[in-house]
Amino acid sequence: MDDRTPDAPQVKLSCREVWKVYRDEAAPYFRQEVSTGDPGALAARMRGDGAIPAVVDVSFDVHVGEIFVIMGLSGSGKSTVVRCLSRLVEPSHGEVRLDREDLLRKSDRELIEIRRHKMGMVFQSFGLMPHLNVFDNVALPLTLQGRPASERNERVSRVIRLVGLEGRESAFPRQLSGGQQQRVGIARSLAVEPELWFLDEPFSALDPLIRRQMQDEFLRIQHRLKKSIVFITHDFLEALRIADRMMIMRDGRAVQVGAPVDLVLNPADDYVAEFTEDVPMVRVLKASDVLDPSQAVEAGMPREDADLSVENLLPRLARHRGGIAMMRGGESIGVVTAASVIAALAQEKQHRAGTDAPPSVRRGDSRPG
Ligand SMILES: Nc1ncnc2c1ncn2[C@@H]1O[C@H](COP(=O)(O)OP(=O)(O)O)[C@@H](O)[C@H]1O
Ligand SMILES: [Mg+2]
Repeated sequence: MDDRTPDAPQVKLSCREVWKVYRDEAAPYFRQEVSTGDPGALAARMRGDGAIPAVVDVSFDVHVGEIFVIMGLSGSGKSTVVRCLSRLVEPSHGEVRLDREDLLRKSDRELIEIRRHKMGMVFQSFGLMPHLNVFDNVALPLTLQGRPASERNERVSRVIRLVGLEGRESAFPRQLSGGQQQRVGIARSLAVEPELWFLDEPFSALDPLIRRQMQDEFLRIQHRLKKSIVFITHDFLEALRIADRMMIMRDGRAVQVGAPVDLVLNPADDYVAEFTEDVPMVRVLKASDVLDPSQAVEAGMPREDADLSVENLLPRLARHRGGIAMMRGGESIGVVTAASVIAALAQEKQHRAGTDAPPSVRRGDSRPG
């Protein structure tokens, strides 16, 4: 990626070659130059020595305004990475930069200020104060900041409205459902108006139906607030719904980073492919992925945005058998027909079953990675 290109994404948070090794014998490993060696081999040696390399040589950027999802099985190191980003856990090695400033050089006092004012955190376990009602739970971080009461009350009321808990201000956590408790957690983290929002499996403890509602709610909130977000989940379908980009972790390592569709179409290895196996292709593919190259755009053809998902395009295709012109940046880039969609889906299916050459379906655009 080139920082100088005009439309390059702006980086909010970046981490480079971050390691976290539990057990304090970690230090000697890093006296030698880690970057010259093979991180996988070094991690294996650490494990052999009885240390726990929870995060192994992880590098990625979080762009301003994006939802960056970290996905992986339980124990793969997701929570530890995110704790390294806020230095709730001290990385054993590597670099973390927030707005280009080196977070690992900040003093404890500076860090507390950064966490209080710039970072919001939401955890799976809600972490509410049982003896405080909804209003006071949400107000707590602002109280800790020493905000004047009038400002505090105004902000608390606003975020309580945002998460749909109006009228429940005086309820205590035990009187709320799991979904409502997590709404309080979300409101509390938003009350400080964080620039960076960390959510560690926030919906994993909730029933599937509630989880889905919370995802919608979360996306609605993000649509309005445009935070820079790191969101952890072990659920690939959840990741698919909300991620702008995602990183898949295994045994502390980042296996693949990319837009969800890139991971589904071009999984880096069998581990990633297994996650993506059950994903409905119509949801992942965009119209631009299923163009019919042999069809010319004709005058009077209906038009659609080339970024529309195939799923959303289907009803339109059913009505317009002759095809639909796909538009991007005011220009038509090709035609999609029912036949071109079926051909693309069939080819993908064959590819996944391992009975065919690599997929012909490639993304027509490439989001900045
Ligand atoms: N405080 C700790 N001390 C020792 N090992 C830990 C500690 N925290 C996490 N681990 C280990 O680090 C690995 C990654 O854990 P974690 O980041 O919590 O994974 P995830 O969030 O993906 O489930 C696991 O093997 C876990 O047992
Ligand atoms: Mg975790």
